[in-house]
Parts: sequence; C-alpha cells; structure tokens
Amino acid sequence: MAFRFKVTRSVKAVMGVALLVYIGTFLVGMMARMHKPTFPWTSDKDDYAAWRETVASHDAILDSKNKENSLAGRRPQAPNRTLVEKLGIRTGYQTEKVKKEERKTVPCPKTVASLAKYSKWFKERYRQDVKLFLDKDDINNYDNLSASGLPFGFRRQNKTVISQILQHKDFSNPPVHGASGKQGCIRCAVVGCGGILNGSEAGEEIDGHDYIFRLNRALSAGKFAKDVGKRTTFYTFFPESQHLTDVEDKNALFFFTLFKAYDADYALNMMNGDDPPKYVSRGKTYKVRKPILDPKKVKFVHPAFFTYVFKTFLDSKAYRPTTGALVVFLALHICDEITIYGFGYDPRFTMHYYDTKFVVHTNASTGSHDVDNERKLWHKLHEEGVIRLFKRDV
Ligand SMILES: *[C@@H]1O[C@H](CO)[C@@H](O)[C@H](O)[C@H]1NC(C)=O
Ligand SMILES: *[C@@H]1O[C@H](CO)[C@@H](O)[C@H](O)[C@H]1NC(C)=O
Ligand SMILES: *[C@@H]1O[C@H](CO)[C@@H](O)[C@H](O)[C@H]1NC(C)=O
Ligand SMILES: *[C@@H]1O[C@H](CO)[C@@H](O)[C@H](O)[C@H]1NC(C)=O
Ligand SMILES: *[C@@H]1O[C@H](CO)[C@@H](O)[C@H](O)[C@H]1NC(C)=O
Repeated sequence: MAFRFKVTRSVKAVMGVALLVYIGTFLVGMMARMHKPTFPWTSDKDDYAAWRETVASHDAILDSKNKENSLAGRRPQAPNRTLVEKLGIRTGYQTEKVKKEERKTVPCPKTVASLAKYSKWFKERYRQDVKLFLDKDDINNYDNLSASGLPFGFRRQNKTVISQILQHKDFSNPPVHGASGKQGCIRCAVVGCGGILNGSEAGEEIDGHDYIFRLNRALSAGKFAKDVGKRTTFYTFFPESQHLTDVEDKNALFFFTLFKAYDADYALNMMNGDDPPKYVSRGKTYKVRKPILDPKKVKFVHPAFFTYVFKTFLDSKAYRPTTGALVVFLALHICDEITIYGFGYDPRFTMHYYDTKFVVHTNASTGSHDVDNERKLWHKLHEEGVIRLFKRDV
C-alpha cells in the first residue's frame, strides 16, 4: 500500500517560517562576521600572532636605537613622538590619538581574560576568581586566613584589631567600577615611580586612559604632570609610603596594603580619623604622617591576593612582592587593557622620576624586593601580549 504525503496548508506555512528563520540566521551571521573587529583589536588567532610579531619588531627597533645611543655615549633623550605614534598605531598600542569617547563605544575583543586563550603561560597562572579586597564577611573566614603571617594571612595578628577594621561603621569597601558597575572596554594606565618617566612627556597619554593607578610616591602634584599626568582613579599605599596630600583627584579610591603588624594598627586609627600609633622598629622610633582621607573610600588588599601574585607570578622569590607588582596585578583583574609606565628599573635612568639628583640602582636601594625577578616578569607579560610595558627610544 502506497503512502501518500499530502502537503497541507499548515505544513506549507511551517516550511515557509523555517526558510525565513534560516535566511535570517544566515544574514545575522554574515553581519556579525562583517562586524568582526579587525587587526589589531582582533580575537583571531592568526592576527594575534601577527600582532605579537609587530610588538617584537617594535622592541627590536627601540633596542637597536638604544644600543646605537649608548655606544655613542649619548644620554637618554625625550622619545621621538612621531616614531612612537607610528609604532603605536601599527602595534595596536593605545595612543592619545584614539579618542576616549570612541573607545568607550567600541567593544573589547582583546580582554585580559581572552588573552588566556593565546598565552599558555598566562593561562596557566591567571585566576579570574581570586579575591582582590577584604570585605566585612572575611572576619568569619579569619581562621582560614591565618595559615600564614602578613602580608599573606593573619597568623599571630591581633584578631580584635582586624575585626574592628572590618566591622568599622565607615568600612564600606566601595565597588571599584562605581555604583553603576563595569561598562564598556576599560583601558588602564599603571604608573610606577621609575626614572624612565623623567622627561618622557607621557603625561597626556597616561591621562587619556579610563582608569589610572598610582602608588606610594608616584604622584604628580602638578610638578610632574607633563611626564606622568594628573588624573588618579586608584591610589595604593602603606603607612611609610603614604603621600595622600599629593592625590589631586577628589574622586580617587584608596587601596591600602597590610604588609606587617604595624599596618593593621595604623589602618584602625586611619578608619577612626586618629593620629597614627607610634612606630618603633628595631629600637628606633619613626615619625609616620597622618593619613587624611575619607574612610568610606578605603579598600584593603586581600591576603589571598598577595599569595596569588607571589606564588603564581613571582615564583615565591624574594621576601614579598613590591607594591608595584600588586598594583599591576590588581589592574589585570580590574581592566581589559593595561599599559604600565615607570616599571622595570632601567639602569640608564635615575631610580625614581622625582629624584633631584641621579640615583644609581643598587641592591641596598631596592630593599627586600627581588627587582630583577620583577623586571623579568614585566618583560614577559609584555612579550606575551598581556600588558604593554612603556619603553623609550633614547
Ligand atoms: C622621528 O621619527 C621619524 C619616523 O621614523 C623620522 O622621520 C624623524 O626623522 C625622527 N625625528 C628625529 C628628531 O629623530
Ligand atoms: C579555607 O582555605 C582552603 C585552602 O586555602 C580553601 O580550599 C577553602 O575553600 C577555604 N574555606 C573557606 C570557608 O573559605
Ligand atoms: C588587641 O587589640 C586590642 C584593641 O586595640 C587591645 O585592647 C588588646 O590589648 C590587643 N591585644 C593584644 C594581645 O595585644
Ligand atoms: C631628568 O631629565 C632631565 C632632562 O629631561 C635631566 O636634565 C635631569 O638630569 C634628569 N634628572 C635626573 C635625576 O636624572
Ligand atoms: C646584587 O645582588 C645580586 C643577587 O643577590 C648579585 O648578583 C649582584 O652582584 C648584586 N649587585 C651589586 C651591585 O652588589
């Protein structure tokens, strides 16, 4: 018996709708492909490899110019802006030419999280879920956080002090992206204190970013604006490095780092608006400046974050990470694209950009940190395309 299939009116309608849906999907797909961001902000693997190659050639040009100058005994000069602009555009580096408004509306195909796809080295280390800052609830986690001493945990700390800080009426741990939350592609500048910034004229470029991270003494206070810029979104400090009076931005948030027991006592007084407690170390008494700030704007870097940076990126070398290292990694967890300025301890320049006389880099001047190890890390992150390390053609 033959089976006869009768095409009814309703079957025809269903087929028609299916055809329309198919064509629609095809068109949307085509449009999406047409809108696919092109080199250099690409998420395409081949283009990304090309980008990496361009970064390498950029560095080769700078290196050969540097070698030429050092052979000729020439002192470092301001960078050739034409060359930097040109290379900047070629390599996809952000320059002041890319207008801020324009950037805000452009999606962010090359985010730090997506970089994990390309760099095996970075992927093996980057942990998106690590906690950056302490919150009120961390007091319930106190015992768990006490496996190590500061800055990696609270072992042998005075629990009452930590509890009084976290339960303080003014401790609000404000959101980093403001009340409205994260929006668009966030480009960040992290400004260290390296002498490479002296005479760099990078201030305008730095201020052109969405967020600007500064730390310790690396502030402008007007004087250095041309080289380091003026804006500050986040300022990170510890008691002895505190220069809050130089933070010109009224909207800045403050990141405090607890490196040692004294810092906790200091933090509690800071929350209360009191003078800092007496600071005695190895029998000597030090004068510590009073921090003048709004306690509602302070965040405390989480001990787990110290551990993460130290163990996964610095391979537990040296005694503890520098504030600079912490801030770069905070940026890697807050931003999409990052350029770091004034990092890398370049011996051709004075130690800090604000030095009044040339200061030579010595083991004594760099204290308990392994700066060689950190310098290698900045170059590695640059080579892997994770961050851009600001360099100069001198
Ligand atoms: C700066 O670089 C551009 C492009 O490479 C070059 O044409 C120009 O001569 C350079 N200027 C100086 C002062 O070296
Ligand atoms: C306590 O710490 C361990 C190891 O660091 C971790 O696996 C665990 O999730 C922590 N517990 C809580 C409640 O945070
Ligand atoms: C811990 O801190 C509290 C509050 O500042 C203080 O009263 C107490 O004496 C401290 N305890 C120790 C063992 O130092
Ligand atoms: C900073 O740079 C200027 C030239 O740009 C130079 O004259 C001065 O010596 C530098 N300062 C230090 C401390 O190296
Ligand atoms: C600094 O320390 C490193 C390693 O500890 C050593 O190799 C180097 O020679 C030292 N440099 C100076 C100038 O003492």
